[in-house]
Amino acid sequence: MHRVVRWLRNTVALLVVLLVVAAVTVYGLSERVIRRTYDEPLVSIPIPTDSAAVAEGGRLARIHGCRGCHQPDLSGQYFEDDFLLGRIVAPSLTLAAQKYSDGELVRIIRRGVRPDGQSVQVMPSEMFAPLTDADLGMIIAYLRSVSPAAGLPRTIKPGPLARLGLVTGGYLPTTDYVRRADSISASGYFPAGNQPNARGAYLARTSCPECHNLALQGYAGDTPDLSIAAGYTPEQFAHFFKTGEALGGRELKLMSDMARNRFSHFTDAERDSLYAYLVARAAVIQGAAAP
Ligand code: HEC
Ligand code: HEC
Repeated sequence: MHRVVRWLRNTVALLVVLLVVAAVTVYGLSERVIRRTYDEPLVSIPIPTDSAAVAEGGRLARIHGCRGCHQPDLSGQYFEDDFLLGRIVAPSLTLAAQKYSDGELVRIIRRGVRPDGQSVQVMPSEMFAPLTDADLGMIIAYLRSVSPAAGLPRTIKPGPLARLGLVTGGYLPTTDYVRRADSISASGYFPAGNQPNARGAYLARTSCPECHNLALQGYAGDTPDLSIAAGYTPEQFAHFFKTGEALGGRELKLMSDMARNRFSHFTDAERDSLYAYLVARAAVIQGAAAP
């Protein structure tokens, strides 16, 4: 055989072997990340049963996005179904309500930890960690009130890109984000307790980070820092959050739908306190940026 052909054949063979070794390594390391277990205690909270609490739980499940990702009737949907990212279902929450105890549901929703100790993936528990016992109790009461329909069970098959993300730390299991969020909250970044704007901060912290990042700074090229809300008057902000129509009559990518289907269910008082918090936060950021 010609020397060049032999050389080519050996090089290609070597490349194939290297690729296979890399793929097997990424697979093995990512499985280790997926199977990591987390120690988070089971906490019991009161779950109300009266119809007013169930109705309020349904409203909260809208605002906090449960009924967006898990479908309005909670039957679940394919959240991602793609060769590179893989396949993940936001599973039926009526099935979950049958399967899990109240304490187990609380731990999944607030801490991202499943009964086997492993973390959920993609589910944004980092946003739900600070939900009060009262709010989470009503959400669980609502989940338990919905009659079980045919729904999608848990399915998670990460694709090559998702596995690479898990190995490089570009993408983390939910519970790692929850713990990162704990330290942001503990740093006093969000006003709490009796501080001014604590109510608005709570609503922002538990409804917006899914897309605008844990510190509400946005993701470059995708979502803005929420200080952008300070460019709205209270009336313009109310119009935006009721109709989805942004300043200047714009229809926004994803956000207009969110406003119409999700945030239009804020009460006027809730929306006003959210707005007041975002304006106060913007003033602090501007102050900090000034020389
Ligand atoms: C951004 C989309 C998204 C939002 C918002 C969301 N979830 Fe999820 N949720 C998911 C995905 C995806 C999974 C599957 C995670 C997994 O299997 O590892 C999941 C899993 C769960 C599970 C575990 C189900 C099981 O059978 O293992 C529960 C319980 C749950 N979510 C409840 C809620 C509640 C309650 C809310 C609102 C407070 C909510 N989710 C909001 C995407 C979401
Ligand atoms: C599911 C994802 C998602 C959630 C949740 C979400 N946003 Fe957004 N938001 C977006 C996207 C995407 C954009 C950018 C849209 C564009 O520029 O077309 C955006 C843009 C905005 C803007 C800029 C409007 C403008 O004038 O351009 C504001 C203000 C805003 N969001 C407020 C909020 C607040 C407050 C919350 C929480 C209560 C929130 N968003 C939750 C996805 C989201």
